[in-house]
Amino acid sequence: MRWTGAHLELLDQRRLPDEIVYLACHNAEEVAGAIREMVVRGAPAIGCAAAFGYALAARAGDDLERAAALLAASRPTAVNLFWAIARMRATRGDEAAQAEALAIYAEDIAANKALGAHGTALIPEGARIMTHCNAGALATAGHGTALGIVRSAHAAGKRVAVIANETRPYLQGARLTAWEMLQEGIPVTLEADVAAGHLMSHGEVDLVLVGADRIAANGDVANKIGTYTLAVLARRHGLPFYVAAPCSTFDLALADGRAIPIEERPADEVTGFRSERWAPRGVAVRNPAFDVTPAELVSAIVCERGVIERPDRARIGALLG
Ligand code: MRU
Repeated sequence: MRWTGAHLELLDQRRLPDEIVYLACHNAEEVAGAIREMVVRGAPAIGCAAAFGYALAARAGDDLERAAALLAASRPTAVNLFWAIARMRATRGDEAAQAEALAIYAEDIAANKALGAHGTALIPEGARIMTHCNAGALATAGHGTALGIVRSAHAAGKRVAVIANETRPYLQGARLTAWEMLQEGIPVTLEADVAAGHLMSHGEVDLVLVGADRIAANGDVANKIGTYTLAVLARRHGLPFYVAAPCSTFDLALADGRAIPIEERPADEVTGFRSERWAPRGVAVRNPAFDVTPAELVSAIVCERGVIERPDRARIGALLG
């Protein structure tokens, strides 16, 4: 995303990888719409976008409570959105709002670089890293979380290869992660989500590394639908299951993952894609966009303050305070 000083420009992720088009947002309403419609997605990225949306409202002298409510209603699961709006609501005045949005943006990049450095130590030479959804630069202000670790390890001279799950039904893995890795020259292989167990059972995966949308105080992790399945498979095959997320993704007010709101998305994302439909009209559909992986299946959470091995309430509390 780009802040011009006058408006926010968002790379339209709905059109990737075929087209690189930026969408200009001039007010909080347009930013909320862009988050809702998936122009911008990924937990830290929607937090940053919402911060700029609030800054636009402050500049225009709009009703700030209305702007905050509009932005907060755009998507329910990623806590970074609510965290960023709370920070913005504590500002007073147009200049302070713009400065805070820019700080949230810059801090996210710094956090991702720091967690990338911590996470590099967990990545063995030659690792084949399975990832799910897109937790890359596109999902953040820059560098990425799970893919930030991959980037940092690659930049440090480690030989790494990514196995990108396509991530049905919205295909963030096929469209976005595959694109990001190809852009960077990091080896990447795309697989259908349903092939994950097969690849693990044939010794083709060394570890699983994913991002997060919200982490409860006990270490339960909400992330893209299908993540829980991967964690169960990783445990079955004795593989490490790592989660990478900045501190802004922790929701210490929630005791465990049961209270995390799970977004249910439109049926047409499952019955087809874009203009194409393959399921019969009228079929009942469930489309939960996220699931919760219990902390007991998580080998470690990597954040900018360090690595939380076998996360639980005490270890998370000790690092995050
Ligand atoms: O529905 P999306 O594409 O916003 O979901 C994104 C994810 O689940 C990511 O893994 C998560 O936000 C971490 S992004 C650094």
